[in-house]
Amino acid sequence: MSFLQVQGLGKRYGDAVALEDVDLSVTAGSRTAIVGRSGSGKTTLLRIVAGFETADTGRIVLDGRPLVDGGGMVPAHRRGIGYVPQDGALFPHLSIADNIGFGLDRNGADRRTRIAELLEAVELAPQMLERRPHELSGGQQQRVALARALARKPALMLLDEPFSALDTGLRDSLRRTVARVLCEAGIATILVTHDQSEALSFADQVAVMREGRLTQVGPPQELYRRPRDRETATFLGDAIILPAEVENGWARCSLGRLAVAAGPQRGAAEIMLRPEQLRLVVDDRDAPPNAAGGGPEGWGRVIDVEFGGSVCKVAVTLGNAPGQPGPLLLRHSSLDLPRIGSRVRIQVQGEAHLFDAPLR
Ligand SMILES: Nc1ncnc2c1ncn2[C@@H]1O[C@H](COP(=O)(O)OP(=O)(O)O)[C@@H](O)[C@H]1O
Ligand SMILES: [Mg+2]
Repeated sequence: MSFLQVQGLGKRYGDAVALEDVDLSVTAGSRTAIVGRSGSGKTTLLRIVAGFETADTGRIVLDGRPLVDGGGMVPAHRRGIGYVPQDGALFPHLSIADNIGFGLDRNGADRRTRIAELLEAVELAPQMLERRPHELSGGQQQRVALARALARKPALMLLDEPFSALDTGLRDSLRRTVARVLCEAGIATILVTHDQSEALSFADQVAVMREGRLTQVGPPQELYRRPRDRETATFLGDAIILPAEVENGWARCSLGRLAVAAGPQRGAAEIMLRPEQLRLVVDDRDAPPNAAGGGPEGWGRVIDVEFGGSVCKVAVTLGNAPGQPGPLLLRHSSLDLPRIGSRVRIQVQGEAHLFDAPLR
């Protein structure tokens, strides 16, 4: 049973369509990431779920209770939803303690204890309590914003790019803290981000948003390995996309004959591999010519090497690649980097993925 159910949600600003026919289902205690480019409608969706914005069409039901249904609407403060915006939006004139305690009863007996617990949950030191927001770093401010949103024990937490202004290291550690805190509290969470690796590592369910629509929703591994189309594939990570001839569970392409999931599709198609499926072996022997008289499949020559620390990039042109859009970009460990000009064989691990969408 889904905990949050969004159905047919639509929103326009004048002539511009911000959301169109959005369906999303979130199970209790789970983590969903909505990933999409800037302007694709992510914030609009969160703000409508939170109750800060109205929808033109659609329904929202939270834990069996309709929040938005036709004309009826539950106001934001009665929804039991926590919201952390991109910039934290702390109250600048209030202390950290009063920011965190903003939604708590001012005269409640356990107010101080609760504030201290929340501060500890987001891994901040007690001496922060008397400070003002401007005396904290960006990462610390985001932790306070999260503590404030947790204070009222929301049933659902909405996070709108809360890590995007932070440095990489800080961002990873804060993301792990947030995931742990929300998981321990059993709070279902929706994280909005334009960063695909953040989405893939944070969530049980990833939803890809493009021009106001959710184009694909599923577990992170599924979306990464089996994206519906080229655009989703390249948005979620580096992809090697090759023209192929497909028949009965095999694809013939410039890398040779590769297994694909068996299906009805046959004939000309596009296949996708992730770079980590390709392994490069230096082989300076003369490559055998193939039956058609061209260069052999899966053999090529290194034309460029880009050092990048632990992961380097090696560009390879294939000997027999009619229709191949350009050199293949492979990842390689910084150990044993091949030299430019080396002859190489490319080995493929696992299945190639065949896009559902027909060739354009
Ligand atoms: N209050 C508003 N008035 C007019 N247009 C808006 C408003 N809010 C958002 N939009 C437009 O709606 C689209 C989606 O915006 P938004 O939801 O903020 O995208 P994202 O969060 O994915 O960057 C954009 O084209 C944006 O310009
Ligand atoms: Mg936004």
